[in-house]
Amino acid sequence: MANNNRDAMDFYELINLRHSVRGYHHDKPVEKEKLLRILEAGRVAPSAANKQPWTFVVVTSENMLRAIHQSYERDWFKQAPVVIVVKGRKTDAWTRQHDGYNSLETDLAIAMDHLILSATNEGLGTCWIANFNPAILQSALQLKPDEVVYAITPVGYPTTEPLTATPKTRKEINQIVKWV
Ligand SMILES: Cc1cc2nc3c(=O)[nH]c(=O)nc-3n(C[C@H](O)[C@H](O)[C@H](O)COP(=O)(O)O)c2cc1C
Repeated sequence: MANNNRDAMDFYELINLRHSVRGYHHDKPVEKEKLLRILEAGRVAPSAANKQPWTFVVVTSENMLRAIHQSYERDWFKQAPVVIVVKGRKTDAWTRQHDGYNSLETDLAIAMDHLILSATNEGLGTCWIANFNPAILQSALQLKPDEVVYAITPVGYPTTEPLTATPKTRKEINQIVKWV
């Protein structure tokens, strides 16, 4: 069984282990080397035309955490010692000439997925959050008007330790796959 001290795990075990963690140890800091490995996993994510239109803001200071918390007021969110914000600008992403489709949202989602899976691999909890107040976040991080945040996640040690798989509520495979 995976635990917070193991080095790596099987990929299929990893993706099943990842779940939205909504309870964190406030006083258990996240090791810098773990954060660096997580950020590296985001850095190597694929993106359209390899534009890499992302910036990862790692929030650890008490002041900035307090400001960010106001954008999503949940007690469990406030417990996490780290929040990672994934942001970017449409002008930095690829645009399809045929119809103007811009890949920013897709690219940032892939990077975010790399980050949260890597955090799981490090024995850490995350929760993809989109239901934040963008205006509050924009002002707290002093973002430029064209900078867009699509996702943020708390990062920290789950209060349910060791990180264990929870049963997944998902559609059955035959509901979502068509073999033709
Ligand atoms: C795009 C996106 C936005 C989400 N926003 C929130 C959110 O604002 N708050 C929250 O508690 N969970 C949020 N989640 C987590 C989902 O509720 C969760 O991934 C889903 O219920 C499946 O559960 P699991 O992550 O535990 O497997 C979000 C997930 C995604 C992918």
